[in-house]
Parts: sequence; structure tokens; C-alpha cells
Amino acid sequence: MSNKQFDVVVIGAGPGGYIAAIRAAQLGFSVACVDEWSNEKGGPAPGGTCTNVGCIPSKALLQSSEHYEHAGHSFKEHGIDVSGLSLNLGQMVKRKDTVVKQNNDGILFLFKKNKVTFFHGRAAFEGAVSADGYPIAITGKAPETINAKQVIVATGSNARALPGADFDEKLILSNTGALAIDAVPAKLGVIGAGVIGLEMGSVWRRLGSEVTVLEGLPTFLGAVDEQIAKEANKLFTKQGLKISLGCKINSVTKGADNVTVEYNDAKGDAVTAVFDKLIVSIGRTPNTNGLGADKAGLALDERGFIAVDGDCKTNLPNVWAIGDVVRGPMLAHKAEEEGVAVAERIAGQHGHTNFDTIPWVIYTSPEIAWVGRTEQQLKADGTPYKAGTFPFLANGRARALGDTSGMVKFLAHAETDEILGVHIIGPMASELISEAVVAMEFKASAEDIARICHAHPSLSEATKEAALAIDKRTLNF
Ligand code: FAD
Ligand code: NAI
Repeated sequence: MSNKQFDVVVIGAGPGGYIAAIRAAQLGFSVACVDEWSNEKGGPAPGGTCTNVGCIPSKALLQSSEHYEHAGHSFKEHGIDVSGLSLNLGQMVKRKDTVVKQNNDGILFLFKKNKVTFFHGRAAFEGAVSADGYPIAITGKAPETINAKQVIVATGSNARALPGADFDEKLILSNTGALAIDAVPAKLGVIGAGVIGLEMGSVWRRLGSEVTVLEGLPTFLGAVDEQIAKEANKLFTKQGLKISLGCKINSVTKGADNVTVEYNDAKGDAVTAVFDKLIVSIGRTPNTNGLGADKAGLALDERGFIAVDGDCKTNLPNVWAIGDVVRGPMLAHKAEEEGVAVAERIAGQHGHTNFDTIPWVIYTSPEIAWVGRTEQQLKADGTPYKAGTFPFLANGRARALGDTSGMVKFLAHAETDEILGVHIIGPMASELISEAVVAMEFKASAEDIARICHAHPSLSEATKEAALAIDKRTLNF
């Protein structure tokens, strides 16, 4: 019996893979998508890291924990007295799991709607390309081999462990364990003050943990605009996160119900800290486990990512790779954009991903969001620029919300006024940044934004005012 033939087989149903599969099907190809993620009942759970143990569950817990903190602190100021406030962590985690499942089911529905054939199992290249295409072996409940004329690899990434401190997800936690803690730890340690460390640290601090974040680098959020990072450090410290920079971790030792971390602090002093649980969030590594890359001759780069060119083409004809398993930011929307672009390239269209306008968001409170260049980058490469900032303290809507921390910052070219970067720390920064992305995609000037009518009262007026601030003509500050 000959193998099932598909025009396109996508390996991995994370945000990169499932979106690539849908777009390829929309373009008229016969498409299969293979994903091995299982739910607790052993059924399929498409959506990858993002849906199962990343973007979606973290945002669900961030939202719930923020409600809890508001009920305990800021409701009073609004004239709402709450008595008998208590935390039902079981329900909070259950809600998070329900949100995840809704997303898993949504993707299965979208596959059906778009006639994408879904296989639940692990896919691996079985050998080199032949006249039938690439043979892809699927292992799982229903093993079989299928053939693909085109393959899109979207196998994502895994959390990086500290050497000698493997994740057990009980005491030493990756993102997976950090999203499923069943009782609020009194003392929570976090190694790595990056995106996961700050988001997860915020969740558990709001729920009552004493959170200590140990960061290896001497600077806080080095990729973020310095002015914004400084403001964030100040605000997070005020909230109670204990952030130590310049730490050198020497050892992590598990006890029966705690973890001991020995490290040297920024001054070089030896410190021993004991935590009830430890989250290790020091970056992620590309996932090519069990993919059979060697069998097909698929080349990896020196860091273990699948080697691709600017168009996501690998060294093999008709094999593409996208998302976390290739170079570039490890972000869901970057993976999605690459997925769409590759499907369109397979169809002979001119799919494109603009790396210069990919927004970043850190979902702390306040949120941090940015697009484009930072002030330190512009200084380093000698680009002449003008900067303008506007604080949320001077924005009427922020005052009505009771959330006035932070600012919007514009960076524009000193001669052409083209927007080079926009940086926001403040309420709903994740939503506000979209205006900046659109503006930069259309190569707008700061003056363009300054002259556009923004609704009043809205947080977006702070964006307009920051654009006005470029020429020192803010109206409300
Ligand atoms: P993944 O989502 O990792 O999906 C890969 C899929 O491939 C998985 O389902 C895996 O099981 C499957 N797979 C792997 N190998 C095989 C194989 N051989 N056969 C079959 N299936 C296979 N990004 C954002 O943009 N916004 C956020 O708010 C955000 N929050 C995050 C929070 C956390 C805690 C974490 C860990 C990450 C977060 N990210 C966020 C990053 C985001 O999750 C990733 O960038 C995104 O999931 C990458 O998508 P992907 O499709 O490349 O890979
Ligand atoms: P990260 O790269 O954001 O941060 C890792 C931090 O750990 C860095 O500050 C680094 O200097 C530090 N570090 C590395 N080794 C260390 C060591 N040995 N000791 C102490 N500190 C050390 O990585 P993170 O937080 O693990 O997240 C991985 C990726 O997942 C992110 O880069 C991002 O792409 C994605 N993500 C995105 C989110 C979002 O978009 N909101 C949310 C969460 C994750």
C-alpha cells in the first residue's frame, strides 16, 4: 500500500505550525499537520508551547492574580470594600486549564474548517527525498508514514536547564511547572530576570510569595530601552520583587522540600539562599529532538537551530523551518508571520516577514512593550535622533483607571523625523504598541502621529503626546 501523499506536511502545531498549515490549505494545497503534544487524558493538544505552557496559560494566571491583587489593594481606593477576600488557587489553575483547552479545541476546529488533516504523534524524517517527496514517519497511537512534497518544520523550543540542576517540575521548575504550582510557595526563587522570570515572578508575588530574582547580567532587561528598563526596575522593586543583578550561580541543591542556591552577588560576596521552589528561566533551546534531521541531511547551525536563510529555506530543497526552532526572536507572532510567509512562498507568492517591526511585550504590571530601536542602539550606531516622552501621570484616562505609572517614549530620526522606535511602560502597553507598529510599517514620521486625532479620554492620547514631545510641544504636560 502506498503512503498517503500531501502537498505540504507541517511538523508541529504551535503558533508557527498551525498557522502555516491553515494558510497553506487556504492557498489550495493538500495539507497535513503532525503534533505530538497530549493533554492529561492522552488526547491531542495542538497549540504548542504557546497554548499549553506559554503565552496563553501565563496570561490567564497573570489576569487572575492581578484581579486578586486589585481586590486586596486598589479596590478600596475606588470605594469598594471587600471583606473575607481569600485565594482559591485550585479554581484559578482550573480556569487557566479551561482557557488552554478552549484554545486546543479551537485549533482542532480550525483544522477541520480548513480541511487540514491532523495527525497526533511524533513526526520524523524517514530518509532522503524521492520521487514521492519526503517520507515522514509518524509514531504514536496510529503509526504510519506519509509523503510530503514540501515540509515545514515548526518544532519549537524547550526550556534550558542550569547545568547540574535538571527540571523535576516539583522543586526546580521550568515554565511548565511554574504554571502549575498547587500551593503558593512562601519563598520562591527565580533564576533569570528575563521575560518568563518577570511574568511568573509577578504572578506568584501577587498571590503571596516572597519572590527573589537572581540575574546573571549586571544590567536589568538589557534588550529594553534603558530609560524604560530603569523605570521597570524601580516599579517592580517597589511592588516587592527582590531583584539581584550580576549574580553568579555556583550550585543548586535539592533538599526534601526545598532548594538551596549558592551564588556570588554583584559584589562577589558568597550568598546561600533557600527557597521552597525555584523557577529557572534562563532562555530556551531549539527543539529538534527525534526529528530525524540527520536521516534527511537537514543542517543545523552551531547553536542547534535549524539553519535557514532570510526566507526560512533550509539546506534541503522544499524543506522550510519557522518559529522558535530557527534564528530570530522566540515569539508566537514571529512564528505565525513566518508560517504565513512560507505557505505563500510555496504558492509562488512573495510572503514577507519584517523583522524591524516585530513588537515585544512583557506582560507585567505595568506592561512593557516596544518596537524598533532603543536609544542605546541609536547612540551606538551613531544615528542622529530626537526623543520625546509623555508620562501616564498626565493622561486623564490613566488617572481615571487609577493606573498612572510609566510613560510612552518616541524616538525619531533627527533629520527625517521617521519613527525609529517606540517604547511603552504603562497600562495596556500591549495594545498601545500596535499603533506604533502600524506607523513604522508605513514609515510614518512622529509628526504624522502628532497630527492624528486620538479619542479622548484614552490611553492612546499618551502616544500622540509622546510624538508631540519630539518637538517639545506636548499639550497636557
Ligand atoms: P511551539 O509553540 O514550541 O510548538 C512546537 C510544537 O511542535 C509543539 O506542540 C511540539 O510538541 C511539537 N513538536 C516538536 N517536535 C515534534 C515532532 N518531531 N513531531 C511532532 N510534533 C513535534 N510569545 C509571545 O509572543 N507572547 C507571549 O506572551 C509569550 N509568552 C510565553 C510564556 C512562556 C511561559 C513561554 C515558555 C513562552 C512564551 N512565548 C510567548 C513564546 C512562544 O510560546 C513561542 O515563541 C512560540 O510558542 C513558538 O512557536 P512555535 O510554533 O515555533 O513552537
Ligand atoms: P530570556 O532570554 O527572556 O531571559 C533569560 C534571562 O536569564 C536573561 O536575563 C539572562 O541574562 C539570564 N540568565 C541566563 N543564564 C543565566 C544564569 N546562568 N544565571 C543567571 N541568569 C542567567 O529567557 P526566558 O525568560 O527563559 O524566556 C525565553 C523566551 O520565551 C523569551 O526570550 C521570549 O522569547 C519568550 N517569552 C516571551 C514572552 C512574551 O512575549 N511576553 C513571555 C515569556 C517568554
